Amino acid sequence: MKRRKIAAGNWKMNLRRNEALQLAMALRDTEAQAEVILFPPFVYLTELIAATVGKPIQYGAQNLCDRENGAFTGEISAPMLQSIGVSHVLIGHSERRQYFHEDHELLKTKLQVAMSYGLHPVFCCGEPREVRLAEQQENYVMKQLEESLFALSEEAMQQVVIAYEPVWAIGTGLTATPGQAQEMHAFIRKQLNWRYGADVAQQVRILYGGSVTAGNAAALFTQPDVDGGLVGGASLKAEDFTAIIHAAS
Ligand code: PGA
Repeated sequence: MKRRKIAAGNWKMNLRRNEALQLAMALRDTEAQAEVILFPPFVYLTELIAATVGKPIQYGAQNLCDRENGAFTGEISAPMLQSIGVSHVLIGHSERRQYFHEDHELLKTKLQVAMSYGLHPVFCCGEPREVRLAEQQENYVMKQLEESLFALSEEAMQQVVIAYEPVWAIGTGLTATPGQAQEMHAFIRKQLNWRYGADVAQQVRILYGGSVTAGNAAALFTQPDVDGGLVGGASLKAEDFTAIIHAAS
């Protein structure tokens, strides 16, 4: 099955309002085969969605609350995101796991709540450096999948995008080699196959993330099981991200 590639930009906690608008404007007319999904900070979502209506850009949130509504000061819920036209949500980014102590159980709940409001989860997984050095990366990622993602039904899994992001590669300038990425992506697809069957395994997009640049994107994205990228730093520059979109197309 031919999977449509995705170029996803995770802006993290960067950019002022004008910079965010300028970036989205610079990207909105990019002609591409790939699906383009932007993950700006929450506060800009509504405005960016309005500014790019009718353009082939989808929007995602970088996080969501595990509760649907109520007295949870400072949180943002799945129904709120749904109501403003957000289609995707990052769940389990390593920065959330590390700095905000999000554990498997919480991520499992976030996945369920995202699904129940029709949001496509982009579920992030990936091992830290010491795990890679000990060659335990497959076991580590397997556990992340098993403890959170694989609680989803077969039907739900078809709505999911997976992002493999080795922690040692995020924001470090160290990128997994195309071979390392392919090896892990093939492993993840094998687990999907085993759990959910061949159709689902062939359908789910698995993105690579971790120091993707305009220079290395094509070599990564042409690996058979790499279906595009989740890009941090390089997604903040229109020229670089445009090149990455083209590499995914
Ligand atoms: P990076 O971030 O491209 O800056 O390494 C990727 C990510 O965290 O999604």
